[in-house]
Amino acid sequence: MTLPLVPAPSILVERTGALALASSARVVVEDGAPGASTHREQVDAAASVLADVIAERVGRRPEIVDGAAEPGDLVLRHDPDHGAEGYTVRVGEVVRIEGAAAGLFYGIQTVRQLLMRDGAAWTLPRVDIDDAPRFEYRGVMLDVARTFFDVDTVKAFIERAASLKFNRLHLHLTDDQGWRLQIESRPLLTEKGATTAVFGRPGGFYTKADFQEIVRHASAHHMLVVPEIDLPGHTHAIGLAYPGIVEEPVMNDALIAQAESLNQPLPISGEPYLGWGVGHSSVKIHDESTWEFLRDVLSELADLTPGPYLHVGGDEALGTPPADFDAFMERVTALVAELGKTPVTWHEAGSAQVAEGTIGQYWGSVTPSAAHADEARRFAERGGRVIMSPSDTAYLDQKYDADFALGLDWAALIDLKTAYEWEPTAIVDDLPAEAVIGVEGPLWSETIATLADIDQLFFPRAAALAETAWSATDRREWSSFRERVGGLGAVWDAAEWGGHRPAEVNWSNR
Ligand code: ACM
Repeated sequence: MTLPLVPAPSILVERTGALALASSARVVVEDGAPGASTHREQVDAAASVLADVIAERVGRRPEIVDGAAEPGDLVLRHDPDHGAEGYTVRVGEVVRIEGAAAGLFYGIQTVRQLLMRDGAAWTLPRVDIDDAPRFEYRGVMLDVARTFFDVDTVKAFIERAASLKFNRLHLHLTDDQGWRLQIESRPLLTEKGATTAVFGRPGGFYTKADFQEIVRHASAHHMLVVPEIDLPGHTHAIGLAYPGIVEEPVMNDALIAQAESLNQPLPISGEPYLGWGVGHSSVKIHDESTWEFLRDVLSELADLTPGPYLHVGGDEALGTPPADFDAFMERVTALVAELGKTPVTWHEAGSAQVAEGTIGQYWGSVTPSAAHADEARRFAERGGRVIMSPSDTAYLDQKYDADFALGLDWAALIDLKTAYEWEPTAIVDDLPAEAVIGVEGPLWSETIATLADIDQLFFPRAAALAETAWSATDRREWSSFRERVGGLGAVWDAAEWGGHRPAEVNWSNR
């Protein structure tokens, strides 16, 4: 049988037979690091996660104890030798998971996938797994601007992503349709800029306490939050609050034609924008009051964000003259660097002299235009790296097929095989492989309103992306993935996660 492990581990040795989990199985914490209290906290946190995972599947929460294991127990041991995210899982007389903080968590996710029902018993196949990730940046993005999702929904999204070993949560916090984060120095942003969402859906925003709760939940699942304030375009909602710093909506012939072809309304200055057309808005690039605003906003955001990254957008500034756009991206990335954070931008900003080390997020197609490829290479030339999010394979918001009820289709129809079969380092010619920091799957929210909708677009394609992010190229193969992912429906069902079950896969019940 092919074991239902996604992402595929680096080294998997299958032995014969299986371990039956004792009905009295315990989680046993072995003291691998006597005296180190942070290690102890990490292994205690992992013990609780492991007990929850067993309870979810088996229906009984094991006791957590210190000391010597007995056959059929689950053993956790802190071992920093596997690096920050690596781990081992050995199933012999006991189930033994070793690693450091995130590694222990990932080992537990692997055990979650190995558990199998055998009549009344729960078993795990006897294996030796030695595993570590390929890419350091393994991201998913949720667009909370076009549709606002409450804290509980974002937490649920984190739990889903972390189970597939994603470690970055990019939150698209602002767009034409709404501003979603409390900024104390600019209270009108949420008072006036957060009241609605796309199609007139309810608005909403995160207080600072809400945001900190999201950051904490992400951290407990070994995910760093990458907050995005999209600039200089996608800023109509700022104008509802502070009209003095945004331009009048740009209405050139191309933008009017685009709005017509998408059947989207044109924005009206001072009124909430309920459509999903793009490219009409811009902050005033040459006005110093804009820069005072940006300094205030980005300083508060930097203070709230423990992770190293602040994303400042840069996509689809369609009505902004190129020289103005470049000047803006140069200055805003310098501001982020001055605040002690690494700037991240969409790839268009590669045209500018962005701050040294800025990370670019590539969202063109897997076969790039010459201009997009040039823009992506520029980040590496300036000491930065590139996150690969090709819109025709990695976008989680595109439809699976033309008849799928949710999703858009402007980039592509992305079935599971298309979501799986692409190679992040083979997209942009002459971009060194080391310059690819990782991959990210953006989930834009024009067509989704609930957690069930999120699940429909997320599962199973996020599993394909997770394997692209984690597994070495020689471990990746579509027919193998297709078989392995078919065993995961049962894991997702046990967690009460929904999702699409496309006919490309034989979904087994185990
Ligand atoms: C994007 O899809 N506008 C980054």
